[in-house]
Amino acid sequence: MKVTVVGAGNVGATCADVLAYREIANEIVLIDIKEGLSEGKSLDIWQKAPIDLYDTRTVGSTNDYSKTAHSDVVVITSGLPRKPGMSRDDLIGTNAGIVKSVTENIIAHSPEAIIIVVSNPLDVMTYQAHLTSKLPRTKVFGMAGILDTARYRAFLAEALNISPKDIQAMLLGGHGDTMVPLPRYTTVAGIPVTELIDHQKLNAILERTKVGGGELVKLMGTSAWYAPGSAAAQMVEAIVRNQRRVFPVCVQLDGEYGIKDCYLGVPVILGKHGIEKIIELDLNESERALLESSRKAVREVMDVLDNLG
Ligand code: NAI
Ligand code: 2OP
Repeated sequence: MKVTVVGAGNVGATCADVLAYREIANEIVLIDIKEGLSEGKSLDIWQKAPIDLYDTRTVGSTNDYSKTAHSDVVVITSGLPRKPGMSRDDLIGTNAGIVKSVTENIIAHSPEAIIIVVSNPLDVMTYQAHLTSKLPRTKVFGMAGILDTARYRAFLAEALNISPKDIQAMLLGGHGDTMVPLPRYTTVAGIPVTELIDHQKLNAILERTKVGGGELVKLMGTSAWYAPGSAAAQMVEAIVRNQRRVFPVCVQLDGEYGIKDCYLGVPVILGKHGIEKIIELDLNESERALLESSRKAVREVMDVLDNLG
């Protein structure tokens, strides 16, 4: 399997590293516009192979898309990250142009590829990749929910003083402050989380999760990369190994959850064809209202993109 990661910055290089050391693909191409950056990072990852014992081949390229030809999966991480005081939506103009040109190049060399978008604002950049690639929604989708649920699970593990491995969680909506973590679908080794933590503490964790990305931007002056890079690699793994994993993924809704023509995070089955199935949960009234607010927030930014032309 051949995987291309576009953008050799913090998230892209981390994703390529995880794909390499976990031997998720045989060949990884890392591509960036910054001269030498992807070649240097690919070489560094390859030089780690004798230490960490893997044989994945990594290739770097400065904007030469012929090297990406016949990729099975492409992860798009190119674009500006957030700086303190910026929302993900502030990135729209610049990142839409980047995602558009990158997608054109990718499709020209790998028309059959499945595309996973990571660049922000995530839901709308996924829409941009869809507009440019014209791929069906099963083959172009975005990574955010795995990261957002991972943050939620990590906070819960800390509060309960247990292993994060035993926490399962689901989340809906856009990748922003309107995301909808779902306590009703959160369990600890099968035990509903509400039996293990009081309402007030759980609410504080839900609120912290919603602004989890911003917390890291404030601390580091740029956005996170370890968890985002691993989350994108986990999606690639589900596809190349046809694992049929159930993840929250940003996908175009076409009537599911009563929503049409909007990109939102929902649970899906991820396998060799990309999105194998969208899972519709039976939401209660308050969950539906929260999802509707999230839909409105994402739709507004999609409209901004439409108006940019
Ligand atoms: P970064 O600045 O470290 O890396 C971005 C890379 O993209 C740079 O190396 C830059 O040279 C490259 N680039 C810019 N234009 C390009 C083009 N036309 N072709 C190829 N490469 C190009 O940024 P970082 O931290 O890696 O973040 C990347 C993106 O991912 C940002 O938009 C960020 O907001 C987003 N992000 C999304 C997350 C999610 O959950 N969906 C989580 C974390 C970050
Ligand atoms: C994050 O959630 C900024 O989207 C990025 O870390």
